[in-house]
Amino acid sequence: MKTQFFRIGSAFREEELETAAELIRQGGLVAFPTETVYGLGADAENAHAARKIYAAKGRPSDNPLIVHICDVSQVFEIADNVPEDAERLWTAFWPGPLTIVLKKNGRIPIETTGGLDTVAIRLPENPVAKALIRRSGKMIAAPSANLSGKPSPTSAAHVIEDMDGRVDGIIISEDCRVGLESTIVDLSEERPIVLRPGDIGMSALRRVLPDAVLDTQLKGGHPKAPGMKYRHYAPRAELYVTVGERAVQQEKVFDAMHRLLEAGKKGAILCVNESVSIYRRKRKDLLVLGLGDKGDSREIARNLFGALRRLDEEGIDLCVSESFSEGESGDAVMNRLLKAAGGKTI
Ligand code: TXA
Ligand code: MG
Repeated sequence: MKTQFFRIGSAFREEELETAAELIRQGGLVAFPTETVYGLGADAENAHAARKIYAAKGRPSDNPLIVHICDVSQVFEIADNVPEDAERLWTAFWPGPLTIVLKKNGRIPIETTGGLDTVAIRLPENPVAKALIRRSGKMIAAPSANLSGKPSPTSAAHVIEDMDGRVDGIIISEDCRVGLESTIVDLSEERPIVLRPGDIGMSALRRVLPDAVLDTQLKGGHPKAPGMKYRHYAPRAELYVTVGERAVQQEKVFDAMHRLLEAGKKGAILCVNESVSIYRRKRKDLLVLGLGDKGDSREIARNLFGALRRLDEEGIDLCVSESFSEGESGDAVMNRLLKAAGGKTI
């Protein structure tokens, strides 16, 4: 398949947007930027188009897609029994990096919702995303625009790497502001459950929904967000995450790296900016990537997926990462990092 490229940033030609929107209307696949990560979009009401998304990503078809809308009123077109909590959430956080899971009516096909009786809905803030949804006249189903198992794409270059030749169109735009996928809140049960942490953290959510709980765990072997059961974001390198006080972590990093390099492999370290010079001073032969200042969890979140991709580009065999649990995005960063590491800690 020949992929068409569209350059749509703060300045762009209307024809480009119209051509991309027309591809969506015709049941095609178009990758587009959002404030979280790039998405791989298709008409959410078109079952055939939804199936093409799974094929392009190599993704299991029981893993449901998020429906992206451009106006709050569209919630009532696709969801049933919309609770007051939903309105509280969207008033506080839409447009933005929040997905709300609600009971669905019959309008969105099971191909889009992975056979569930609920639908995940998001109104993104990114102006290009909103313009594409509005111009197409469709609600757009979109997972992250990566090949299944790879880190979500936070730049157009990542999307091209994974999707060139597999989709009808790719919108080339700015890097993603947040860099991690949206916070998912399930309102289809008694109590609001955060299925996936994101840029909107627990303290911000609890200001709106005081009884919200974070629960990304498997329930009886079945995760509520089916995507959480697959190994995600995994670089080819073996990845370990150190835990404990920062100084203790630094010792653990050295220890692990020392052993690794004796075996003649290529090593990398992910750390806070404050640690970079400490590692570089001791070992010149390591790739040391500072993800952001210790207190700046948003900056760390923005850089994480790019850093994981970089490990593969550089042919890294083993990577040891510090923990980044401080700050409002700390839960989200650690959730993704530990997944990438397959839960391996030192
Ligand atoms: O930030 C984001 O959410 C990005 C951008 C493109 O909007 N999208 C994204 O989609 O991360 P995806 O498909 O990579 O992740 C969607 C997650 C999966 O873990 C999926 O299982 C869960 O949302 N999900 C979707 N529909 C659901 C539902 N009805 N109930 C529970 N979880 C659902
Ligand atoms: Mg994804």
